[in-house]
Amino acid sequence: MSDVTSNTMPPSSPVLPGQQAQAILSDMDISFTPALEKEMSPLYDRISSVVPEIEWPFFAPYVKAINELKREKNAVILAHNYQTPEIFHCVADVVGDSLQLAREAAQAKGDMIVQCGVHFMAETSKLLNPDKKVLIPDMGAGCSLAESITGADVKALRQAYPGVPVVTYVNTSADVKAESDICCTSSNAVAIVEAMAKEFNSNKVLCIPDEFLAQNIARETDIEVIAWKGRCEVHEQFSADEIRQYRADDPGLVIIAHPECPPEVVDESDFSGSTSGMIKWVQDNQPERVLMVTECSMSDNVAVENPNVNFVRPCNLCPHMKQITLPKVLEALVFDRQEVLVDADVAADARLAVQRMIDINN
Ligand code: 13P
Ligand code: SF4
Repeated sequence: MSDVTSNTMPPSSPVLPGQQAQAILSDMDISFTPALEKEMSPLYDRISSVVPEIEWPFFAPYVKAINELKREKNAVILAHNYQTPEIFHCVADVVGDSLQLAREAAQAKGDMIVQCGVHFMAETSKLLNPDKKVLIPDMGAGCSLAESITGADVKALRQAYPGVPVVTYVNTSADVKAESDICCTSSNAVAIVEAMAKEFNSNKVLCIPDEFLAQNIARETDIEVIAWKGRCEVHEQFSADEIRQYRADDPGLVIIAHPECPPEVVDESDFSGSTSGMIKWVQDNQPERVLMVTECSMSDNVAVENPNVNFVRPCNLCPHMKQITLPKVLEALVFDRQEVLVDADVAADARLAVQRMIDINN
């Protein structure tokens, strides 16, 4: 397999998207033959309810090639719950919400990590694995929350609110984390806010940058939560009217929402939690029909393991998460690209903020 890189076009060649990946498949002599179809059929059977039959001949050769290369290069693929089912179920070694991925990254065994998620997730993995190569299949996979705030903004907030602890959502750049006291995710935010208020002996906590997450946290604690004005471009689209309409159309429908949604949407829901919290809720409660008010791929991923649950899918896709595709994962593995690096000075402080969160959680 070592000749794969030498026989294919160099990464800088002006080629069409996917063209390099196809060249890699042909170098590896992998195509959708009857033999490959048979070999991969148990995998396809598992995801057939969410991946149309017509798409499998395109995906299957990539799945085969990625899994071969992953073993050869001793790479670990971490995938967020919002990744598409062919990534989530067919090539990922570890799947989860932001907290689970950070924890798993901290214990990652392989020589290299391929992050199927967005840039801040890959940066978090790099912070926790400074000596490992961390790759993201598309450097352009950003996040509207991460883009809403800079390290300079956090410095200014500290001046405006002296002595008030800064709790920063992991959906931020390493620069922002480095200026923060601690990180949080949607699955531990209330506990972290309360722990910081106690440690700093403060009745106020800055909770940045997600305005809606901060408002949702504020309703679960007596601590005064000061918010920033960032929003998730996926979750901010949901409205209480829309949720009420779903209920009116189907009174038996169970509705569960992510806390990045506006508080009035969470109010209309039966449960709210992180992506993994929502998955666990469905697994434990097995509702007949459920509406997961969050990014659309997650319902597909959960549906595979919950065949008795019917998922009503409001299809809000995260354009950043969807930058990650099987051809790009294959190219990442072959060319060791695109490597995520964090400036050493920033990394030291940012790592402290992430590690502190993991330690409190543990
Ligand atoms: P969690 O998976 O931690 O709930 O985060 C959701 C999200 O929007 C990640 O980008
Ligand atoms: Fe960012 Fe929202 Fe996309 Fe998550 S779903 S990566 S918070 S834009």
